[in-house]
Amino acid sequence: MRAGIAAPVAPLSMEEALAHLDPENASPDRLEKARPAVEAFVASAKPSSVMHDTPVLVRLAQADCAPFLGPTVLRSIDLAIREGEILGVLGRNGAGKSTLGLCLAGLLPLKAGQRQGPPGGYAFQRPENQFTAGTVHEELFTALPARMSAGEKTERVMMTLEAWGLAELARNHPFELSQGQKRKLALASLTISKRWPLLVLDEPMAGLDAHGAALLTQEILALRDNGHTIALITHDMDLALKLCPRSIVVGEGGILADGPTEALMNDAALLARSGLAEPASLAAMRWLKAVAPRLEAAIAC
Ligand SMILES: Nc1ncnc2c1ncn2[C@@H]1O[C@H](COP(=O)(O)OP(=O)(O)O)[C@@H](O)[C@H]1O
Ligand SMILES: [Mg+2]
Repeated sequence: MRAGIAAPVAPLSMEEALAHLDPENASPDRLEKARPAVEAFVASAKPSSVMHDTPVLVRLAQADCAPFLGPTVLRSIDLAIREGEILGVLGRNGAGKSTLGLCLAGLLPLKAGQRQGPPGGYAFQRPENQFTAGTVHEELFTALPARMSAGEKTERVMMTLEAWGLAELARNHPFELSQGQKRKLALASLTISKRWPLLVLDEPMAGLDAHGAALLTQEILALRDNGHTIALITHDMDLALKLCPRSIVVGEGGILADGPTEALMNDAALLARSGLAEPASLAAMRWLKAVAPRLEAAIAC
C-alpha cells in the first residue's frame, strides 16, 4: 500500500492517493486494501464539537480594515469571537485574512468602526518576524512582564521550555531552530505571560511536515483547553474542519460566509466563489460511498 494512504496525519497526500484509486477502474483487491486507511482518515478528520454560547471576547463592528500603510481592503466587518472558541479564518491568498487577524488582535488601527475587547497576541505567518532576542531562553524571558522578579521569570522560563520540549535548545539562537521548533517558540513566547486571552495564529502549519502539523494541532487544542480563544488563519480546509467548529470566509472585500465549518465546506458554490479547495476528507467520504457497492458486488461473485 502507498505510504501516503496509511498516514492519517497526511491529508494532502490523501487526494493524490485517491486519484490513483478510481472506484470505477481500480481492481476490487486494491480498493479493499485501501479502504481501512481511507476509513481511518475520515474518522481522524471528524469535525470538532459544536460551538457553545460563551460570552463574546472580541468584537469588530462596522470595521474597515487596511494593512499597515496600505489601502482599505475590508469594509463594514461585523465579527464576534467568543471565549474558548477556535474560529477558522479562511479565504484565498490576498483576500485580507492577515489584515483582519491583525485588526482582531488590535495590532492594526481600524480605518472606521469599532473594536471591543482585550488586546490579542499574534503569531505571524513567518515566526522569525516575531523573534527579537539572541537565544531561545532570552526570547521567553523578555516576553514576561517587567513586574515579575528575575527568579520568578527564570522559573517560568524553565517550566515553559520543558512544556514545549525546547529545553535542549535554550542557548540556541531562535533562527537556528527547525521550522516546527520556531512555531513552538513563537507560541510559547505568546502564551508564557498569560497576557493574551485571544491568540491569532496566522497560517501556523506553513512549512511543517505531517508530523509537525499533527503535533501543532495538539498544541492548539491544548491552548484552547487552557482557556485561550483562538482565531486560526489557514487555507488547509481539513485542518479547519477538524479544529474549528465555526469559520468565516474572507473575500471580495468582506466576510462572504460565517457559520459551522462543516456547512461551509459542503457549500460547493461558496468554495468555488472564494477559491477554496474542498477538504480531502470530503473526497475520501465520497470515495468510500462509491467503493462500497463495487466491493459488495465483488464479494457476491
Ligand atoms: N503593507 C501593505 N501595503 C499595501 N498593500 C498591502 C500591504 N499588505 C498587504 N497588502 C495587500 O492587501 C491585501 C490583503 O492582504 P493580506 O491581508 O495579507 O491577505 P491574506 O492574508 O488573505 O493573504 C492584498 O491584496 C495584499 O496585496
Ligand atoms: Mg496572510
